[in-house]
Amino acid sequence: MDKFIIDGGRRLNGSIRAQSAKNSVLPLLAASVLTEKQVTIREVPAIADVMCMAQILRELGASVEFRGGDAVIDSANASCHEISSALTRELRSSVFMLGSLLTRFRRAVISYPGGCDIGLRPIDLHLSALKRLGVRIRERDGFIFCDCDRLRGAEIALDFPSVGATENILLASVMADGRTVLQGAAKEPEIVDLQNFLNAMGAKIAGAGTDVIEIEGVKSLGGVCYLPVKDRIEAGTYLIACAICGGETEVTGVSAENIRLLLHKLRENGCKIHTKNDKIMISGGGCLKCNRRIETMPFPGFPTDLQAQATALNCSAEGGALIVENLFETRYKYVPELRKMGADIEVNGRNAFVRGVPRLHGASVTAGDLRGGAALVLAALGAEGCSEVFDLSHIDRGYADLQGKLRRLGAQIRRVRI
Ligand code: UD1
Repeated sequence: MDKFIIDGGRRLNGSIRAQSAKNSVLPLLAASVLTEKQVTIREVPAIADVMCMAQILRELGASVEFRGGDAVIDSANASCHEISSALTRELRSSVFMLGSLLTRFRRAVISYPGGCDIGLRPIDLHLSALKRLGVRIRERDGFIFCDCDRLRGAEIALDFPSVGATENILLASVMADGRTVLQGAAKEPEIVDLQNFLNAMGAKIAGAGTDVIEIEGVKSLGGVCYLPVKDRIEAGTYLIACAICGGETEVTGVSAENIRLLLHKLRENGCKIHTKNDKIMISGGGCLKCNRRIETMPFPGFPTDLQAQATALNCSAEGGALIVENLFETRYKYVPELRKMGADIEVNGRNAFVRGVPRLHGASVTAGDLRGGAALVLAALGAEGCSEVFDLSHIDRGYADLQGKLRRLGAQIRRVRI
């Protein structure tokens, strides 16, 4: 068990290159079993979720090696279609394996998926879409048993643009008989990345990034060497850190288009933002103003994965902010921890009302989930005095070397074993 010790109040200056997107790399790893040829995913971040997904692939019989930061997957010998419940519980993204396993083996068994404890996270949309593609599904004792004689293309309409369901549909229909038309698809940049990855393997998919995706089933897929899109959530976290602490920081690798709404909100706070090609420059600090309202929405709306970090910023800005969380029911579990640092936040269902205070103070706090944990780190960086952040396992799921990157920007943060 490790903890962070953070001395608040340092300005952040310098340049950071964003890691490859966690939410892209995970479905790409799942997709790598769709071919018996070698797949290389370049520059994968050293985060716990990636290691867990690699372990799932190994359980299926694939070999996964990390070479110089790239993941090299060879699933020619994969033969198992069941994922152990220990790994599924640890990683909700293992639900993508349903689509991949069905395409590869025509059958799949997984237990109900886990991941961050931020709400109910049902998978009904995944399952009803798979049924449309010809999959038989039985649920028993917490396990989901799927099988089919063949996958066949279908017209599918999602009632809600679920990211995971959209990705699962791509993975299950990419080699189905005939054509699949998906209406109401999620439009996140990571969906576009999955389309590009699969097309580079020989798939025929068009429309990702819009709400209609068309998939023409192909007979087989080949190997690929692919560099994933960069992590807009990680990039956004560092931009918010600089907004809170002050200083001048540049984040490279992420297109401003992919975090347009965050940049708009940061300007509203009073930060100066410049963008050029894949560089985003922020000059933060000073007397920040609260955002009047931040409401999380599917892309291109404000990302739920930056809600906690944006709330942390508003805690020590001038005025009041209404935060509305539309995606996940219980995504305010970090709020009691922020209160220990002097934050004034009232939560009522999906809404949190923040009254800005002049400055937060250091405290001992515990990360309860990935993004909530990042928010506590950001609050501590801006707070007066020393803070400790416990239970880093959640933060390790999504941020590679968070402390190293922040230290290089001038933060006083140490990771110590307890
Ligand atoms: C993905 C991201 C996660 C992000 C989320 C929303 C990955 C690995 N994770 O999660 O970081 O916070 O998108 O941007 O990419 N829902 C249903 N039924 C379903 C599926 C989803 O009701 O079958 C609901 C969920 O409970 C939630 C909402 O839809 O309220 C969004 O879920 P979804 O878009 O599926 O998120 P994930 O794919 O789990």
